[in-house]
Amino acid sequence: MKLVLILGCLVTLGLAQDAINPRRFPSSLRIGVANAAPQIEGGWDADGKGETIWDHFAHTFPERIVDRSTPDIACDSYNKYKEDVALVKAMGLDHYRLSIAWSRVLPTGYTDNVNQAGVQYYKNLFKELKDNNIIPMVTLYHWDLPQPLQDQMGGWLNESIVNIFADYTKFCWETFGDDANWWITINEPKQVCQAGYGSGVFAPGIVSDGILDYVCTKNVLLAHAKAWHIYNDLFRKTNKGQVGMVIDSSWYEPGSESDEDKESAERAMQFDIGIYGNPLFNGDWPAVVKERVAARSKLEGFSESRLPILTDFEIDYIKGTSDFLGLNHYSTLLINHTAEAPIGRPSFESDKSVQYWHRPEWTQGSADWFFDVPWGLRKFLSWLKKTFNNPEIVITENGFSDTSGTLEDDKRITYLEGHVSACLDAIYEDNVNLTGYTVWSIMDDWEWTGGYTSFLGMYKVDFNDPDRPRIKRKSADYFTGVMKKRCLVDEDKCVD
Ligand SMILES: *[C@@H]1O[C@H](CO)[C@@H](O)[C@H](O)[C@H]1NC(C)=O
Ligand SMILES: *[C@@H]1O[C@H](CO)[C@@H](O)[C@H](O)[C@H]1NC(C)=O
Ligand SMILES: *[C@@H]1O[C@H](CO)[C@@H](O)[C@H](O)[C@H]1NC(C)=O
Repeated sequence: MKLVLILGCLVTLGLAQDAINPRRFPSSLRIGVANAAPQIEGGWDADGKGETIWDHFAHTFPERIVDRSTPDIACDSYNKYKEDVALVKAMGLDHYRLSIAWSRVLPTGYTDNVNQAGVQYYKNLFKELKDNNIIPMVTLYHWDLPQPLQDQMGGWLNESIVNIFADYTKFCWETFGDDANWWITINEPKQVCQAGYGSGVFAPGIVSDGILDYVCTKNVLLAHAKAWHIYNDLFRKTNKGQVGMVIDSSWYEPGSESDEDKESAERAMQFDIGIYGNPLFNGDWPAVVKERVAARSKLEGFSESRLPILTDFEIDYIKGTSDFLGLNHYSTLLINHTAEAPIGRPSFESDKSVQYWHRPEWTQGSADWFFDVPWGLRKFLSWLKKTFNNPEIVITENGFSDTSGTLEDDKRITYLEGHVSACLDAIYEDNVNLTGYTVWSIMDDWEWTGGYTSFLGMYKVDFNDPDRPRIKRKSADYFTGVMKKRCLVDEDKCVD
């Protein structure tokens, strides 16, 4: 009886904690940290910057932000960018993922009105990175649409955004082509569309679940593709870089061995990742998404599917336009089959039709969907390799959020160690072509509707202090040590 109990405990421990991979990081793997302009810069109207949909959302609907906060000052990186770069340098990181705020360089969104002070801000930031030998990874759109484009033409719901966005990206490559060559067009289109124009929980807060969110999805893909074609035709030769899209999802693990649960988990992946990844890497919408939205639309009395058709021309135009697959990943959930939702009000979740749950023993972050499950990332990377024909993959965000903001952030250390180890397993054991890993984030920031209540930084930021000091957490020392060894285990145990 006792022996059985002890064995039981050992097995449980073995399952809870995967072994840490002792291999040295390959030289092809760049390690860095990520940030985004609207979450750190502040200076929301400084020196000619235009208003964004997130400025407007936070100012107009304070009740939609949990602590009624605004991004007006955030980390004040508009003034303190040199300090940020110094932190990145001190940690020995390879790259810094930043985003250009569209309305800081083009206040109205259009190229006929350039804000030179905004251009100079990014020029200064790029120079600081260059002087410190840190590679910039540049996001051109991190959710911060210039407000005039929302007011005047409906933002991402209007197909005209495709040309307007393409003009903006061309402007960026003309202006910053000497400063960087690692580009992300659009960050997390699922949040832009399904949260911004579907559920409406994110800016611009338009509620049209299962209808206009799919219109946004198509426009985002076309806008990305047009930008990529411009880069490919006009800038690739001189810039010699890469342009990709960043898509985001949790890993969805079948809740049981049953065929129904396995099919449900795969369907969840296709709705959350495939809806963007499939057009980019394979061509057209995933079959299951096309079939389910069409079938439910018909029963709801729509004359056409709520999911817009991609024409043969559009399928060709979008396919092959991501030089790498950028992945933002934070969590794993279990997926069960669920009964078909009654036909009534359309919704993205009813189209997807799954039930989410999790193991009670998983360490939870700051949200009900946020769990530390490193093996989920390893499975996810293998799934991407298989599903999208072995693309180059760059993890553009991964990190742990808590609500305490403690400086003794052991949970963050455990999370980072487990997830980097999963990356090494994927590279060395599963032959996944993973060439970048990016922690979110170097410091705390404005977490959208989560305001200043959810913390992901290896440095704490004191948002009550007008100087916004950056204060080191335990995880910063941990990760500095990892970068020194480029290995997760002690130097004498590291396997070259
Ligand atoms: C779409 O944008 C164009 C050009 O910006 C504008 O003329 C048109 O009115 C917009 N359509 C809608 C429905 O807002
Ligand atoms: C999902 O299915 C598993 C296995 O059939 C079951 O044990 C579990 O309770 C289910 N979860 C939910 C949330 O229904
Ligand atoms: C990874 O992808 C890049 C870009 O396509 C390619 O140059 C490289 O050879 C690939 N590496 C492996 C190990 O497949």
